[in-house]
Amino acid sequence: MAINYGKKVMQYFLHPKNVGEIPNADGVGKVGNITCGDIMWIYIRIGKKKIKGKEDDYIQDIRFKTLGCAAAIATSSVVTELAKGKTIREAMKITNQDVVRRLGGLPPVKHHCSLLAEDGLTEAIYDYLKKNKKPVPEELEMKHKRILKSEEHFHDKFQKC
Ligand code: FES
Repeated sequence: MAINYGKKVMQYFLHPKNVGEIPNADGVGKVGNITCGDIMWIYIRIGKKKIKGKEDDYIQDIRFKTLGCAAAIATSSVVTELAKGKTIREAMKITNQDVVRRLGGLPPVKHHCSLLAEDGLTEAIYDYLKKNKKPVPEELEMKHKRILKSEEHFHDKFQKC
């Protein structure tokens, strides 16, 4: 079945931003989709900046690696662009709907690809907070548990990585 992607999706697919890995990243998120088998890694480097006189963590650098469809690559790229420069608290609020909006829409059959991007970012942030013994907001903890559950199914089905 041919998929009709919009112009922006094709632009991001053909010229994705922030591709690659961050050596010794401060946080890494790895997620997979149980239905299609696509996999995504998000790497974050955290810096400190002063906001209203208070020091806060922010996403100084972010990169991704994705084995997947055109939409998975485009949404990975967009989520890195949306998150770069944001504080951790701001980045946690980024949703797959924000990603879809930035892409000017996705075919309905490809909406799950945008969820993979949101989940990858969530997991990278979660990994950073946990590694650094920082408090994890309840909402993030719940999201992490939901992702973890689908990861278990993913491994059972694909036995990858
Ligand atoms: Fe599954 Fe794109 S088809 S992430």
